[in-house]
Amino acid sequence: MAVPTQALAPLLEPIVACPRCGGGLGPDGGALACEGCDERYPAGERQLDLRLRREKAVSLPFRVRPLDAVASRRRRPRPLPLNPSGLQVDPTAYAGRLTSGNGLTRELVSWFPRDPSGERVLLDMGCGDRRVEPVLRQTGMRYVGMDIDGSEPDVLGIGEALPFRDGSFDFAFTLSVVPHTTEPAVVMRELFRVLKPGGRFIGTMEFLEPCHMQSRHHVTALGVQDWLDTAGFELLHLEANRRWLGLDALLQMGFFPRLSWETNGRIARALDPLHRLQARRSYADPAANERYPVGEGFPERITGGFRFVADRPA
Ligand SMILES: C[S@@+](CC[C@H](N)C(=O)[O-])C[C@H]1O[C@@H](n2cnc3c(N)ncnc32)[C@H](O)[C@@H]1O
Ligand SMILES: [Zn+2]
Repeated sequence: MAVPTQALAPLLEPIVACPRCGGGLGPDGGALACEGCDERYPAGERQLDLRLRREKAVSLPFRVRPLDAVASRRRRPRPLPLNPSGLQVDPTAYAGRLTSGNGLTRELVSWFPRDPSGERVLLDMGCGDRRVEPVLRQTGMRYVGMDIDGSEPDVLGIGEALPFRDGSFDFAFTLSVVPHTTEPAVVMRELFRVLKPGGRFIGTMEFLEPCHMQSRHHVTALGVQDWLDTAGFELLHLEANRRWLGLDALLQMGFFPRLSWETNGRIARALDPLHRLQARRSYADPAANERYPVGEGFPERITGGFRFVADRPA
């Protein structure tokens, strides 16, 4: 099979699949045709369009657990530690925008897996304009950017029906994407499927941000855990963003729409010390947070979003 999109062919050929039936794809004129269900997909010079074209039914192995089993699986978010043996990259060296809002930190990047061989492949699911690509490439892995829309992604596809074979990737990354999707549980399961056993899944999810770009399912600390858990992932780290509280998000994302992002930011920063004064004990002494129910301490009850590091068990 030869992917018509020449530049991408060596990278994508072994991993793309029909999003409808999972069948292999073969060239058919300027398009790709599914060997399993006869669906055809457009293939341009720089981009494959592997978005689902007809409805498909999906069933998921949801696990409904007794209450005590649910409670015992709950985890308190903690500040993400720096992984000293991991990738040491300061995202501010790339572009300030990468670290604003619910973005990257040095700590989060230090959990990215590395590949000196350059053989492994990573998926940036919901890559948008690929702003994280330069940092993701520091892993040494080959980069595949996929999004539901836009001219920048290598592949157009939907998270609910990923157009890749099982176990295609060593690393899956999503920066504030899953709450935008229509069926987050299906998306999480798809990410699990396309990751190799032992592969890593890192990302962020929005909580107290105003809705934006058709976001739907903003999620709490427990919700992030449940989504990961239901899909089969093992959670390594969960962190509430401490620099991007709901207050910052609300103001900067348009509370006073006639004021600039910067002015809204200044108002947020003026109120921030008041909040930190109130929540001081909880910030300074994690044990003080233990008096709150799991997932409802500071700052997880008032954060703009969460960061997580998870693995698909080997
Ligand atoms: C908040 S933007 C984040 C973009 C990018 N990750 C970044 O940080 O710059 C959310 C992205 O999710 C994409 N998206 C929304 N629903 C999707 C779906 N069902 N499957 C794949 N991508 C989706 C949007 O097109 C958009 O690019
Ligand atoms: Zn098919």
